Amino acid sequence: MKVKCVIYLTLLYCVYCTTAATTTPSSSANKIHYRCTTQGYYYSEAKFSNVIIDESTIPLFTCDSTSQKQTVKFEMSSIQEVPKKLFDTFSNLLVANFTRSGIKYINRYSLDRAVNLQKLDLSSNAIEQLNANCFSGATALLELNLSFNNISSIDKLAFNTLLNLILLRLTGNKLRSLDNKVFEPLKSLRTIYLNSNELQVIESGIIAKNTKLQFFLLQNNHINMVEERAFLVENLEASSSNLTIVSLSNNKLTKLNLGTIKVNQLYLTNNTLEALHLSPWIGTVYAENNIISNVTVSDVTNMQLKTLRLANN
Ligand SMILES: *[C@@H]1O[C@H](CO)[C@@H](O)[C@H](O)[C@H]1NC(C)=O
Ligand SMILES: *[C@@H]1O[C@H](CO)[C@@H](O)[C@H](O)[C@H]1NC(C)=O
Ligand SMILES: *[C@@H]1O[C@H](CO)[C@@H](O)[C@H](O)[C@H]1NC(C)=O
Ligand SMILES: *[C@@H]1O[C@H](CO)[C@@H](O)[C@H](O)[C@H]1NC(C)=O
Ligand SMILES: *[C@@H]1O[C@H](CO)[C@@H](O)[C@H](O)[C@H]1NC(C)=O
Ligand SMILES: *[C@@H]1O[C@H](CO)[C@@H](O)[C@H](O)[C@H]1NC(C)=O
Repeated sequence: MKVKCVIYLTLLYCVYCTTAATTTPSSSANKIHYRCTTQGYYYSEAKFSNVIIDESTIPLFTCDSTSQKQTVKFEMSSIQEVPKKLFDTFSNLLVANFTRSGIKYINRYSLDRAVNLQKLDLSSNAIEQLNANCFSGATALLELNLSFNNISSIDKLAFNTLLNLILLRLTGNKLRSLDNKVFEPLKSLRTIYLNSNELQVIESGIIAKNTKLQFFLLQNNHINMVEERAFLVENLEASSSNLTIVSLSNNKLTKLNLGTIKVNQLYLTNNTLEALHLSPWIGTVYAENNIISNVTVSDVTNMQLKTLRLANN
């Protein structure tokens, strides 16, 4: 009888404690309310400090006149994933700055409500991969900074929906290879920073759809192969291409055939190039510190080459 009683009591207590956990204010133990540190109606920036969010936290962000805020910035924070809640509160946000915030993941729905966002700074975080559609929702994005993360793989649908993106920074990651369709949705892209990664091969077609591309920066990788059609843009006469700078300095190239590519300035310093084949539309070539013994041009009658630097070959 005594034992039965104890069991009843325990049961009763448990019923009580579970109800309590879901209905009383203590249930919001993992709901954390963050107020911005920049107070006042007239500040267009909302700054949040010491924000700590893991998977068990539901954050709530507030500030005076949230709809007036154009920039949100985090400081001294540790946030596991891009917080969807932020864009529920700040619906007119133009700039979101998460630099150095310990971010590991970008969830497919994180940016669903970030429809006005123009600049997203995710530099110096701990992101390892970019999954399909991870930026979906952020269709107005113009500048995306993913430099100095730990990114080693990018799904070929990761940048889907970023039709207006002009600038993409991926400097200082762990990329060894890229799907040659990965930049395809980026129809407005003018600049790609891919320097200081571990890329080995630049495949044909990698910028085939990026008709607006001007700056393609690939220095400080392990590139030993640039396929012949790698810098070719589809449906565009080579001579009307807008490529202004292609940098391949500090790589492991032994040969390079650009007989059909137009680019104003080509940076090839610090490779082990033995031969170089250029199109007539290349204006400037910096090729110091190689072992080049032979430079050929595919059509010398129309040659536009003005500067060719070959010191230390
Ligand atoms: C984000 O903040 C950092 C640190 O203050 C700053 O250097 C960077 O320019 C900011 N990013 C943007 C997009 O404004
Ligand atoms: C990056 O990944 C390596 C392992 O691949 C890990 O040791 C390192 O801590 C990671 N860096 C960051 C900033 O997460
Ligand atoms: C990230 O890139 C954006 C766009 O170029 C730039 O404004 C910002 O300053 C960069 N962030 C840092 C921390 O340098
Ligand atoms: C190349 O750039 C010029 C000047 O910025 C622009 O007018 C032209 O439309 C661009 N070409 C393409 C194919 O985007
Ligand atoms: C080429 O390598 C030298 C020696 O390592 C370095 O000082 C120089 O900055 C490099 N040049 C370029 C353009 O990266
Ligand atoms: C340079 O390359 C051209 C074309 O491949 C070849 O005909 C020529 O013999 C080469 N010259 C030397 C000195 O290797």
